[in-house]
Amino acid sequence: MVPAWLWLLCLSIPQALSEAQLAELHVEVPENYGGKFPLYLTKLPLPRGEAEGKIVLSGNSGMASESPFAVDRESGFLMVTRALDREEQPEYQLQVALETDDGRVLWGPQPVLVHVKDENDQVPHFSQAIYSVRLSQGTRPGIPFLFLEASDEDEPGTANSDLRFHILNQAPAQPFPDMFQLEPQLGALALSPKGSTSLDQALEGPYQLLVQVKDMGDQASGHQATATVNISIVESTWMPLEPIHLAENLKVPYPHHISQVRWSGEDVHYHLESQPPGPFDVDTKGKLYVTMELDRESQAEYLLQVRAQNTHGEDYTEPLKLLVVVMDENDNAPACPPRGPPIRIPELSPAGTEVTRLLAEDMDAPGSPNSHVVYRLLSPEPEEGTEGRAFELDSASGSVTLGALPLHASQDIPLQVLAVDLGGAEGGLSSTCEVTVTITDINDHAPEFTTSQIEPISLPEDTEPGTLVATLLATDGDLEPAFRRMDFAIEAGDVDGAFGLKWEPDSGHVQLLLLKNLSYETAPSYQLVVVVRSEAELVGPGPGPGATATVTVLVEKVVPPPKLNQESYEASVPVSTPAGSLLLTIQPSDPMSSPLRFSLVNDSEGWLCIKEVSGEVHTARPLQGARPGDMYTVLVEAQDAGEPTLRTAVTLVIHFLKAGSASAPALPLVPTRHLCTPRKNHGVVVSGASEDTDLADGHGPYHFALGPNPTVQRDWRIQALNGSHAYLTLALHWVEPREYSVPVVVSHNNRMWQLLVRVIVCRCNAEGQCMRKVGRMKGMPTKLSAVGILGGTLLAIGIFLVLIFTHLSLARKKDPDQPADSVPLKAAV
Ligand SMILES: *[C@@H]1O[C@H](CO)[C@@H](O)[C@H](O)[C@H]1NC(C)=O
Ligand SMILES: *[C@@H]1O[C@H](CO)[C@@H](O)[C@H](O)[C@H]1NC(C)=O
Ligand SMILES: *[C@@H]1O[C@H](CO)[C@@H](O)[C@H](O)[C@H]1NC(C)=O
Ligand SMILES: *[C@@H]1O[C@H](CO)[C@@H](O)[C@H](O)[C@H]1NC(C)=O
Repeated sequence: MVPAWLWLLCLSIPQALSEAQLAELHVEVPENYGGKFPLYLTKLPLPRGEAEGKIVLSGNSGMASESPFAVDRESGFLMVTRALDREEQPEYQLQVALETDDGRVLWGPQPVLVHVKDENDQVPHFSQAIYSVRLSQGTRPGIPFLFLEASDEDEPGTANSDLRFHILNQAPAQPFPDMFQLEPQLGALALSPKGSTSLDQALEGPYQLLVQVKDMGDQASGHQATATVNISIVESTWMPLEPIHLAENLKVPYPHHISQVRWSGEDVHYHLESQPPGPFDVDTKGKLYVTMELDRESQAEYLLQVRAQNTHGEDYTEPLKLLVVVMDENDNAPACPPRGPPIRIPELSPAGTEVTRLLAEDMDAPGSPNSHVVYRLLSPEPEEGTEGRAFELDSASGSVTLGALPLHASQDIPLQVLAVDLGGAEGGLSSTCEVTVTITDINDHAPEFTTSQIEPISLPEDTEPGTLVATLLATDGDLEPAFRRMDFAIEAGDVDGAFGLKWEPDSGHVQLLLLKNLSYETAPSYQLVVVVRSEAELVGPGPGPGATATVTVLVEKVVPPPKLNQESYEASVPVSTPAGSLLLTIQPSDPMSSPLRFSLVNDSEGWLCIKEVSGEVHTARPLQGARPGDMYTVLVEAQDAGEPTLRTAVTLVIHFLKAGSASAPALPLVPTRHLCTPRKNHGVVVSGASEDTDLADGHGPYHFALGPNPTVQRDWRIQALNGSHAYLTLALHWVEPREYSVPVVVSHNNRMWQLLVRVIVCRCNAEGQCMRKVGRMKGMPTKLSAVGILGGTLLAIGIFLVLIFTHLSLARKKDPDQPADSVPLKAAV
């Protein structure tokens, strides 16, 4: 913040000044005043009634000791006491003050400016009484060659000092009296138009002009003075100049003098211009210089213009022209054209095809040896042992053409060409130009298979459609991917369209696929002709034999393997079974099919043997080492007797049973048996042999089967035991205990009959003994009377009771192997 006292100070200063400084008074006094003195000039604003103090008049430094001014104390007038001379002093600066004796200012100081008003009391003067000047012939009219100078001491800017120049007289007045003209205000002397045309014929001798200078401007009155101008006419030395030849790169000290001009007239100023601007100069004497080395290649010629000018920069005459020619030096090597993109030439183009035209530019003077360029092919060099070259070069024109050597599509070929100036002469400058030539591919290679003959391929008749049969590979010598794309087709041999081709567009692999089911009967073999073609149009010779491949396909007939009447076979055999026992017979499912040959594959124990033709499986030796409850699995192979390759294998599982168990062969001759329910590991041996000699005679096995009744089929199971006996067991865990007649169908030697096997199913004790009295039970119905039945029944009860007691006493002995009540049951036939 500006303090308040500073504000006050700033505001009070102008007030104080205006009070202290009084406005300047201007007073004018005529120069050389001829009237009465003192001459009152002006009344000063002195304060009224100030009796005290004295007037002090002071002046500026230039004032003479005796001041021509005074102040009248009475009237307060400023007055001048004598005549004033403006040329002595044009102005007076006065100060008037009222002071006390001790110097204290009571009023003022009042500044007063006294101006002395000019009177034309001065005569003009020429700077010289005689002007001598040379005038060159050829000076243009109106161009001043002399400026007259004169002065007048009267006040500048007034008519009193306003000067005018005039020619009063010309001597001689030949050939015209007004050969010259003088500009009145400037005093510029020039040839008049008339004078310039007739100057050549003019006298050789000098002209004398009487010239006048006068003040008061164009008014008739005024002071005047005269002078003489002595003009001698001189011959023009302003001559046209011969062109100058300057070597480029000239090694000399600079500036280097090259020419000279001279204007013979007076007061000349030389001026030089270069078109285009160049390193040239002219000095005051008219000597022309080159100031630095020149380069022809940047500028071959300069047109110089030299002007002779007067002091006001006006041309005395036409400028002189000077042609500077820069002479060439072989300082430029041929320049290769800028390296462009590779030049593309299709392969197998004919010899003479122009590849490119190299135009190395030499900046040196055109048409001179310095710019005469010849060409030489540096690379590729001709290969040893080959006739002709891949490229030919015309040394004069730089044109590169294809040579006799054919070019194939490959990588880029770099061309190197030497360009030499001086027409190839020694000492010439050179450059190596490079061009890349790309030999572009054309589709001149047909695709070919790598193998034209494929080994015969065997296809089973049941090969599934879609199966890959063969893969063929074809290659193409072209480089361009578009020219390598192939198209495949089966051209011949695929009569029923059973085959097809599949391929990826960019690979040479083609897959031969099976499309349909094969049939040996329809077509036992195929001779497929596969062709490959280029997708793009081929240039040159057509496809050769390699474009075809032959695939031979042989169809294999498939005969189904023999089928057997069961998927697998099982037999249960007591471990005590003697050698030679028939276990079961393996038979074809279709008895009418072609005969089979059977064999055992892995009967490692050697327990079994099989009849090759009939398929009967026997024990080959006693089953030593077999443990009851064990299983023995062997593979049985059945071969087609006519076609041994057709074969099938089935498993045969033998379950070993306990020797002497219910089904033990100790009881084979016992015709009837009981079976326990719930089921125990017991069975009933059924003999196929019959008392009927018609049925029993002949060899060959008996076959057993349950009767067709579904309940029988559900409840019972029959298994072959050996060739003549079978083993009947319960199929269910629980069967109602009673007597059953189980129908068993026996077949033997193409004859078939039915047995009804009587079996008693009963509850058994822990030893497997039937828990009902069976001893007196008659197997066959008899024609007994009621009395007989009753008596028999009572007898049976008695015997039953006896048996129970006997059984109980025997049970205590715990001898399961010798059951006293194991009464054989008689089987009814
Ligand atoms: C004029 O110049 C010429 C030649 O320079 C000379 O002979 C002559 O005396 C001069 N005249 C006067 C008046 O100076
Ligand atoms: C080809 O064989 C298979 C198997 O034998 C069969 O399922 C299919 O229907 C057959 N196809 C033709 C077109 O015959
Ligand atoms: C025989 O071959 C079958 C099937 O390979 C196999 O299950 C069985 O255990 C083999 N039998 C013997 C005694 O090696
Ligand atoms: C078949 O087995 C029964 C009962 O075990 C026997 O009586 C008969 O002699 C056997 N037959 C042959 C050929 O082994």
